Amino acid sequence: EKGGFEHFMLKEIYEQPKAYRDTMLGRMNPEGTKVILPELKLTNEQIKNIKNIQIVACGTAYNAGLVGRNLIESLVRIPVENDIASEYRYRSPIVTPETLVIVVSQSGETADTLAALREGHANGAHVLAITNVVGSSIAREADDVLVTLAGPEIAVASTKAYTSQIIAFGLFALYLAEVRGTQSGAEIAHILAAMQSLPEQVEAILEKKDAIKAYAEQIAKHDHLFYLGRGVDYAVAQEGSLKLKEISYIHSEAYAAGELKHGTLALIEEGVPVIAVATQEAVLEKTVSNIKEVKARGADVLAITHEEHVTDLLKSVDQAFAIPKTLPMLTAALSVVVLQLLAYYASLALGHDVDKPRNLAKSVTVE
Ligand code: BG6
Repeated sequence: EKGGFEHFMLKEIYEQPKAYRDTMLGRMNPEGTKVILPELKLTNEQIKNIKNIQIVACGTAYNAGLVGRNLIESLVRIPVENDIASEYRYRSPIVTPETLVIVVSQSGETADTLAALREGHANGAHVLAITNVVGSSIAREADDVLVTLAGPEIAVASTKAYTSQIIAFGLFALYLAEVRGTQSGAEIAHILAAMQSLPEQVEAILEKKDAIKAYAEQIAKHDHLFYLGRGVDYAVAQEGSLKLKEISYIHSEAYAAGELKHGTLALIEEGVPVIAVATQEAVLEKTVSNIKEVKARGADVLAITHEEHVTDLLKSVDQAFAIPKTLPMLTAALSVVVLQLLAYYASLALGHDVDKPRNLAKSVTVE
């Protein structure tokens, strides 16, 4: 049942190229210039009237929503908020009939997320669910469902569901952009082409798993570490940190790279591993200055970046891992795979139960 893999988690990490392809399959025109989502009830008129979007979810699905926000805001220029489902109701969110609420849930059964969906409905919002389970409670109650086709996910630590959610957000953002006319056909085609290259780019990362394993064995000797990033890289840093904590029990924190100096820099001591996700060219120089700040305090820094920046970055970091080149808005779909493998091999090195970490359940149906 594990298809020759030692754990479900590793199998599911390796299933990501297929999950990306399946989630995109049949959802664009043959020319690749347009996203087609015939399953949506949301009308063009409704789409044109959307004033704000709230993305609500828990855990890893929440982290996918952070990437989703970046995609929607950059491509469609609609304001987006991210909410933790268990917080959403109690903060009296400003929801109107022109709000689109997007709930994200692998299982479709998470009680907090279901309650958030009902909160959206109670305020007259249209609710779109991005879920991996067609017949789930969330899928049944939502007005619209955008299914991720990741296949069953067994390991408690979510991998292919997260990345498929990112693909779904990419498709949905492009769909909104087309309807609202915020991106040209040529630009949409360009992004879709880049999305279609992602599966083989993930395969290229998987081929370099031994290098990631070696680094994981190094970090497994530490009690705590940091993940840094800006923009999408910060979103990915948060997911990488969660993954590591969930299955290796090593404490870590994800920080917006520029924020560390405003509080927690004192925790960086000699030898503390820092993983800097540095794929965003527009802010690379700023991230490099943040890397220098931690290096000056003795941190041991691994950078995850594009090949073209490796030589330069190696002047400031100890090690670098290159991911294949994609558009800045799509890097999460690649960089996170490195962090998933890192968490997996760290857990393995420490002898933990990778697929069933202590105190966690795959799906939490209590609020
Ligand atoms: C949890 C799982 O408690 O629920 C996480 O342990 C998961 O891995 C979270 O991300 C949300 O689950 P779902 O099914 O709503 O995406």
